[in-house]
Amino acid sequence: MCGIVGYVGSQSATPILLDGLERLEYRGYDSAGIAVIASDGSLQVTKTKGKLAALRELVASAEPVGVVGIGHTRWATHGRPSDENAHPHADCHDMVTVAHNGIIENYATLRAELEASGHILRSQTDTEALAHMIEDELRQTDDLAEAVRATLARVTGSYAIAVVSRAHPGTLVGARMNGPLIVGLGKGENFLASDIPAILRHTREIIPLDDGEMVELTADSVRVMTLAGVETRHAPTHVDWDIEAAERGGHSHFFAKEIYEQPDAAHKALMGRILTREPEPDLALDALDGLLASGRLDAVRRVTLLGCGTSIHAAMIARYALERWTRLPVEVAVASEYRYADPIVGPETLCVAITQSGETADTLAATRLARDAGAPVIAVTNTVGGAVTRLADATLYLQAGPEISVAATKTFVTMILTLYLLGAWLGRQRGMLPEAEQRQILHALMDTPELMRRTLESLSEGPNAAALSDAVTLLKDCHSALFVGRGAGFPLAMEGALKLKEISYVHAEGFAAGEMKHGPIALLDEVTPLVAIATASATYEKIVSNIQEARARDAYVIAIATEGDDSIHQHADTIITVPAAPEAFTPLFSVIPLQLLAYHTALARGCNVDQPRNLAKSVTVE
Ligand code: AGP
Repeated sequence: MCGIVGYVGSQSATPILLDGLERLEYRGYDSAGIAVIASDGSLQVTKTKGKLAALRELVASAEPVGVVGIGHTRWATHGRPSDENAHPHADCHDMVTVAHNGIIENYATLRAELEASGHILRSQTDTEALAHMIEDELRQTDDLAEAVRATLARVTGSYAIAVVSRAHPGTLVGARMNGPLIVGLGKGENFLASDIPAILRHTREIIPLDDGEMVELTADSVRVMTLAGVETRHAPTHVDWDIEAAERGGHSHFFAKEIYEQPDAAHKALMGRILTREPEPDLALDALDGLLASGRLDAVRRVTLLGCGTSIHAAMIARYALERWTRLPVEVAVASEYRYADPIVGPETLCVAITQSGETADTLAATRLARDAGAPVIAVTNTVGGAVTRLADATLYLQAGPEISVAATKTFVTMILTLYLLGAWLGRQRGMLPEAEQRQILHALMDTPELMRRTLESLSEGPNAAALSDAVTLLKDCHSALFVGRGAGFPLAMEGALKLKEISYVHAEGFAAGEMKHGPIALLDEVTPLVAIATASATYEKIVSNIQEARARDAYVIAIATEGDDSIHQHADTIITVPAAPEAFTPLFSVIPLQLLAYHTALARGCNVDQPRNLAKSVTVE
């Protein structure tokens, strides 16, 4: 977690740093700070507990003026959120200052050594040790990059860091190891950031650093090298994201904006992959050409889908179709558990690492394990150049555009779509999916954006809008809600429950509807509603029976049902309908009312929708 930003150039650094931090707040927001080398040569550190707004207030009362600086927005790991634990951290003489994202695993040893040699550490963070170590190294060399490199040679753990020193007023140094860091190239100025939106207003030319690389930036030069000091060359990548795409665009929250962007995101996810050739569409996943040519897919006998949180729900939903289309057994593995479970993995296992950020520590560690065991790896991610892409043999990008809200929406649906494309491709490659069936799948996928659009429209007025409002009126005062479904409706129920709990703080759990009677049904009463995914499916009759069981226990039932299903009115109290579609594709738009239920419930409860408490967009610690 945590977001870092750095600037060196000729403009005033402070507004650039604050603007960059605003765009990185999704990475953590329990404290924030900036450090600027002021024009009088002093190092001015302004930092505070709380969100960026608190930092802005402090800065407004005494704005540091200088043309080099670093900034940080924090998600606490070592040391509680407080002024002194906020980054950047300085050495004993306020000479060097460091902003850090990650965890220094051997910090306790390093700290003890520093204290024994007379350093005074002022925070409880692991990061501060770095500033003092660089202070020591600068006694041996006057080269800041060299001092950073020598320091990092003694560090174990994960980091992306930005460093400035008042003894080196025109230099900014960055380094990364298992934490995202990009360089932004400007004219007479250069940037560092954890993520692209932080610097998109200033440049579209970026270099994502690799793990084990560092960079020395001045206003006019960029020197990338390994942590061993060997210079490396990277061609810059041009980022063509629309700046507006990273803004709220008329919505009160990014979460709402991103819900409404889903039809467009789905369309983009299919672009360049489903080729709308006459008379029939064709599927082309060029990104997999290299892997296919390597012959490694010939050995594959099973598939493991890895991810966390919403990404694992997308995997669980896609699993049903993937098995059907490829005739390969598909295992869904929670990444945080996978590597401790002595998994069966090798060249016969196709590992698909699913992570919107591309930086989730658990997913990266599990993927590394699979890769090291010889498994071919496909990354499914939204982040160009993200860490997972470097572990993978091939990457399928979600092409969803930036997702800023901490709670995932459009990356969830584009993950399912991308996995479906992969399944339809793999099924054909393996000769298990007849051409005609693949065509039906492609048609169904192409229909998805329009079905999403219709779902969104129907929820903005008429009976569905009224039903949504009724459901929110009930949920906003609940302590707990249960979500149930069958088949792909089961992980969809889990996703609905996750959205509700993470942004509205109403306790919610998702269950396989058939499991209700084995325990969870004991939780039901007149103040604990049941949200049932009751769209048309092979198990529709069964879920109706499960709803009846709940109603017999006085539970209020909110059903997500298919348009034209008149019989559901006998069974549920509030009904939200979605368009009809083949069963595998229904979750792609029946998730929308669940997302909106969470959104409006969170609003009604006065919650911070885009930055829920205790969460961060990108979880880069284990
Ligand atoms: C989703 O709403 C959550 N914020 C969270 O569960 C998230 O999906 C999870 O942390 C995985 O993130 P990733 O896709 O970036 O790996």
